[in-house]
Amino acid sequence: MDEGVLISAPGKVILHGEHAVVHGKVALAVGLNLRTFIKVLHTRDNAVLLNLPSIGSKLTWNVGQLQPLLPSFKGGHEPVSPRSEQLDLLRKFAGFSEGSQDTESQAVLAFLYLYLSICGQWTETELKLINSWAFQGEKVIHGNPSGVDNAVATLGGALQFQAGQITPMKRVPMLQILLTNTRVPRSTKILVAGVKDKLLKYPSIIEPVLSSIHAISQECQRILEASSAALSIDQFKVLEELIDINQHHLNVIGVGHPSLDKLCQVTASHGLHSKLTGAGGGGCAITLLRPDVDHSVVEAVKQQLVDCGYQCWETSIGAPGVTLHSSLSLPEDIINAFSNV
Ligand code: PMV
Repeated sequence: MDEGVLISAPGKVILHGEHAVVHGKVALAVGLNLRTFIKVLHTRDNAVLLNLPSIGSKLTWNVGQLQPLLPSFKGGHEPVSPRSEQLDLLRKFAGFSEGSQDTESQAVLAFLYLYLSICGQWTETELKLINSWAFQGEKVIHGNPSGVDNAVATLGGALQFQAGQITPMKRVPMLQILLTNTRVPRSTKILVAGVKDKLLKYPSIIEPVLSSIHAISQECQRILEASSAALSIDQFKVLEELIDINQHHLNVIGVGHPSLDKLCQVTASHGLHSKLTGAGGGGCAITLLRPDVDHSVVEAVKQQLVDCGYQCWETSIGAPGVTLHSSLSLPEDIINAFSNV
């Protein structure tokens, strides 16, 4: 194997606007300083080896095995949406059962779809192309994504997103947050479909809720962009109120979960405010960490959340987008993590 390349992209959280964004409203999304790294190496033995340590998946295919699939995946520089017959073919090839939705099969399917569609096409590397292909990968996993996830993972920073239109925010103050994973699995596809059903069934009730979420995103953006340096405590208070209101709205549109209620109760008992981020129904939540909050309080909250069986990361928002690292500039722990891959 040669040195290969190491690429990373930030995680993301949606500050406000999840679900509403699927219906044309504004969402605010930010890159997270928790990155996913991919190491791409040439192998001598004509094998494609996919190693996803975080989900414990290691698969190998011979190039000869993949060759017969290629005619069904004509990619190139124009990203194309995955067709259901292509996904069926891949499911069969990888030995996954029909309609499988588990994390491994979705990740492997998205990888194989992109690999077979793009392989041999690495002459152009513009962000636009990466973003557009990442969007096709999202379609494999989510069905009908808004495009906000791939956009923020590619571009990083903080983005305003509406109806496919991306506008980077003028400035984003450094904000510390707690990202908590309730470890309750959920399907984004099913949750998004549930909101659509509610909207169709009760348009005059649900549409105003989505419009209010839209207004929350706009108000949050106004506050983040207005401050030239650090936010004042009063501005933090408004951000906290927006978080609380939005969390209630998300419950109204049916994407809450008892695990998220519990999380909000725990953080509220320490004076901190949380909302779900992303699809809801379990999954992750964000908690705003005001600068005046003592670190002992944050530690106590984290401990209590861990005791509930959740995972917590203290991190900051506004991380840079997809990055090609020279191995020299890499932090030691990252190099070590990849040395056995
Ligand atoms: O669950 P996540 O983090 O992939 O976010 C989903 C966000 C939604 O607004 C619910 C769907 C979308 O495609 O924007």
